[in-house]
Amino acid sequence: MIKVITYGTYDLLHQGHINLLRRAKSLGDYLIVGVTSDSFDRGRGKLNVRNNVLERVEAVKATGYADEVIIEDYIGQKIDDIQKYDVDIFAIGNDWEGKFDYLNEYCKVVYLPRTEGISSTMLREESQEVYRLGIIGSGRIAHRFVPETKVVNGVEVKAVFNPDAKESKCFAIKHGIEAYSDFDSFIHQVDIVYVASPHMTHYDYVKCCLLANKHVLCEIPFVLCKEQALELYRLAEERNLVLMEASKTAYCPAFGHIVTLVKSGIIGDVVDVKASLSKQVLPPTRELDPIQAGGAMNEHAPLCLMAIVRLLGVDWHDVSFHTKKENGVDIYTQGVINYPHATSSFTLGIGVKTEGNLVISGTKGYVYVPAPWWLTDFFEVRYEDQTKNKKFFYSYDGEGLRYEIQEFLSMIVNNRRSCYKLCRRESEAIAEIIGKYNNGENVTEI
Ligand code: CTP
Repeated sequence: MIKVITYGTYDLLHQGHINLLRRAKSLGDYLIVGVTSDSFDRGRGKLNVRNNVLERVEAVKATGYADEVIIEDYIGQKIDDIQKYDVDIFAIGNDWEGKFDYLNEYCKVVYLPRTEGISSTMLREESQEVYRLGIIGSGRIAHRFVPETKVVNGVEVKAVFNPDAKESKCFAIKHGIEAYSDFDSFIHQVDIVYVASPHMTHYDYVKCCLLANKHVLCEIPFVLCKEQALELYRLAEERNLVLMEASKTAYCPAFGHIVTLVKSGIIGDVVDVKASLSKQVLPPTRELDPIQAGGAMNEHAPLCLMAIVRLLGVDWHDVSFHTKKENGVDIYTQGVINYPHATSSFTLGIGVKTEGNLVISGTKGYVYVPAPWWLTDFFEVRYEDQTKNKKFFYSYDGEGLRYEIQEFLSMIVNNRRSCYKLCRRESEAIAEIIGKYNNGENVTEI
């Protein structure tokens, strides 16, 4: 019996897939089809897949060509499968010509003709409404944001707003979009908004966008106190709009995996979370300007606090800070958040350099995420018995902003108003702790 194997995502199953499966089956007697898992696709940068793995498996089965369907979940699995299932022929469309020649060592490799004029990407693009996105602010993060939108289906950056006409024009020319220095004209040209303006302006801009009935993705720090966060989320809810904090690490696949592993008990009960983040800056810069809400806390606390509240929740019983200030901003702040059954701390620097890792300690082991943990692409679960240690590798594509953009679009398209990767309550808790620091509650200067 000749066994053939082929792989694919098979999203929105189309005639090209059916032709490929028919051709693959005709090469032998028994066809095994490997369908990619959702997490494997996300990990290799395929962010826009519409059907989940179960739907895609069902669609492949319904073609009647597959004798067996398996799930492809990791890089290198093809070599394992070919040996495990005693495969004779590996077949794939000729858009992959040459890419799988390395499998010749294990079986025969056949590149089959691809059907012209159709693909899942094409079908996704044809069927999806394209939202016009406007950016408020034209600083560093906004520049990095635009290219990241290009890998997400259903969104196109159309306009930028900056009250300084020269700055908005300069940004617009660079990215081929329209420039506005008048807010009302800008807001009428877009469907959804990314707020990336100076920290102190987030509250006002988010409010104006929500009042204009636009969905909003707001850069961190979302707002600088709990009251503002509560008010804005309430407003979004009343108007059935998406309001999302752009805490990029929260939406990246590797960080999500850390949270699910820890919650499933892989290191026992979590007793301590330590998150650090330091990026030294030189004057003159916004980060060192007290007028622009500079300082290590406002700048870096959102990501560290996000990790802590995602892992330990929002029901802490006390929070305290030790801080070193220079010229009106904190160049270093360490905070401690105590919970009934756990403790946590965060260490932030803009004028002090320190290690930027994340360590989650539990009763059975710990998770170590090396610096820069906020661009998570690798982590290790460690135990007393080192033979049980396990390393996890992921790709953190581009600037990593694509994951939050994809989540933002998915919430809008699917009419979801809350996101388990960073829920409203967690976002409010982050603003609350930043607010406590800015109010001087339990703050000791060193
Ligand atoms: N395929 C094909 N003809 C097409 C599209 C896909 O023969 N028009 C083949 C691919 O070469 C591969 C298999 O179908 O062997 C599964 O491909 P997949 O990547 O799932 O489909 P695409 O339509 O190419 O998906 P996407 O646009 O997301 O890349």
